Amino acid sequence: MTDASKAVRRPRPKAALAIVALVLLAFLLLIAYMLVDNSAGASTATLSEDSYAAELALALDGADADIGAGLINEYECYTCHVLGDGSQSPLFDGIGIFAGERRPPLSAEQYLYEAIVLPGVFIVEDYSDSMPNNYDERLSQQEVGHMIAYLLTLTEEPPTY
Ligand code: HEC
Repeated sequence: MTDASKAVRRPRPKAALAIVALVLLAFLLLIAYMLVDNSAGASTATLSEDSYAAELALALDGADADIGAGLINEYECYTCHVLGDGSQSPLFDGIGIFAGERRPPLSAEQYLYEAIVLPGVFIVEDYSDSMPNNYDERLSQQEVGHMIAYLLTLTEEPPTY
């Protein structure tokens, strides 16, 4: 009886070594998995051509660029995006051309939707995460759609208000 319990308490050195090796291996695998996951980018991992499809179907139904121009004025988006010199916030000039290139595989519509409703998910290079992040509460899906329709018309000239 005493002998048996001693045997349990003192595992043989070889078994102990095997356990340590297994724990180490599991740990290394975990680190490797985390590294691979990070290099894919947490926010790009789930992107696809279907991203925001349901939201966009609703938002773009009846979207009107003229209404969008009025909303961008009303919500004062232009204070950062039109009146600035481009150093603090990216200017809207030509956004209808490059929006579709910003974040493949997102289309221009998908990218603009994300940029307005979830501005913290992707930060335009050389800028900081300083865009207000409450437009998803302040704007209806239709209002976002009107804004997207307007932004898509900005293919050459600087926008005017
Ligand atoms: C306080 C300044 C500020 C206001 C107000 C603001 N934004 Fe922004 N916006 C930014 C900054 C800074 C960025 C770049 C950082 C980022 O990607 O989030 C940005 C990025 C964007 C982009 C992506 C631009 C690109 O070149 O890819 C879009 C689209 C956009 N904003 C739309 C809007 C709309 C629409 C409104 C109003 C409803 C608005 N923003 C209000 C500061 C602002």
